[in-house]
Amino acid sequence: MYNRVPCVLAAGMTASFPVHPVNRFAGQSEPVKRPKEFACFSYDDNHEFHLGDSSLKWYYPPLLGANLSRGYEDFVKHDDSGDEHLVSLLKTIAAHEEETQKKIDAQVVTWRGMMTKIMASPFDDRDGFEMNATLFEDCIFIEENHAFKAASRQQQASQPSRGPISQDVMSFWGYKFETLSTLPAPWGEVDRDFIESRDTHVVNNKAQYCSVVRTGVGKTVLCLGGEVDAIWDSKPPQQGAPIAWVELKTSLEIRSDRDKDNFERKLLKFWIQSFLLGVPKIVVGFRSREGVLQSLQEIETAEIPAKVQRGGRPSWDGNICINFASAFLDWLRATINDDGVWRIRRRPKSSHIEVFRVEEAGHGEILTDDFINWRIKL
Ligand code: A3P
Ligand code: MG
Ligand code: MG
Repeated sequence: MYNRVPCVLAAGMTASFPVHPVNRFAGQSEPVKRPKEFACFSYDDNHEFHLGDSSLKWYYPPLLGANLSRGYEDFVKHDDSGDEHLVSLLKTIAAHEEETQKKIDAQVVTWRGMMTKIMASPFDDRDGFEMNATLFEDCIFIEENHAFKAASRQQQASQPSRGPISQDVMSFWGYKFETLSTLPAPWGEVDRDFIESRDTHVVNNKAQYCSVVRTGVGKTVLCLGGEVDAIWDSKPPQQGAPIAWVELKTSLEIRSDRDKDNFERKLLKFWIQSFLLGVPKIVVGFRSREGVLQSLQEIETAEIPAKVQRGGRPSWDGNICINFASAFLDWLRATINDDGVWRIRRRPKSSHIEVFRVEEAGHGEILTDDFINWRIKL
């Protein structure tokens, strides 16, 4: 019923994809392609772009008992108030295409974060989302609608803090945990002093390693770019082989049934985020309410959905997420079938995802001139 090919949406018309009832997506999962990295890029300590893996980090367990607030005053924080569009992803794709002299075959190109929002839709309606999309050479390019993100941030910041610790400090804890848990090279190549002094290192979240993968959900081939926190050992020599990535997360230690339920709900995003890039392992640093690191748990990404199902009254179902994403992407590809800039929107708490056209021609700022010119040349 969702594969029906609509005619071109007339100006002002909205197409709508119902999220509910989600049970229609239950059952065996549609085929998914194992994500394979085909390119990567790095942001350095100044958030400057470089092709390649210069900002790759190696996982090395942190010492327990660390105070995750330590060093907050010196935090070198990336200013993410500007709109980065898809610029770095497009540069990396173009460089790859130049090397292979072939266009990538994806039908959808976007950041992993956008696909995470879509895939989590059946079980997460709190925040809603807005994205911009454009069709170019048979591929839909999707970016976050920056104005919506900025407004949500502002609204979040205006909420009173629920405890004595500010949202900013709590958000720092995640980056501090990354600093405590990673090395700039494999263990054997790093100075012992460096490892032992990690707790005193300045926390800087400007640097990132981003993996660019080809993957697939149902009938749709996707190219996704997303940050990877660390690697367990080393990259395999052959391209496309599974990589022992590690996703780092912090979470409140589990002391009550309520904490357990909250953690299970958080696992939805943890799982989707890692599943989409092929990250096999998540290391969770459990912290006290005050932000002291209490324990570590290694979780295999692939085992999360079954683990959640085994608990009483599961709060989400991984197969429903996959089948929902598969059906939604089929519908999206049938809907975004003409020029211009399209909006993909889910209002908070809404039962539908809407798609409508906001510009009749061009690609807005989703595609760069460099990328378009490159494609014309290829
Ligand atoms: P935690 O996930 O441990 O809280 P990621 O886990 O995706 O690698 O993100 C790294 C850290 O960035 C997070 O660590 C958190 O500190 C911060 N972060 C990510 N998204 C955030 C958001 N929407 N608001 C505030 N902080 C965020
Ligand atoms: Mg990260
Ligand atoms: Mg992380």
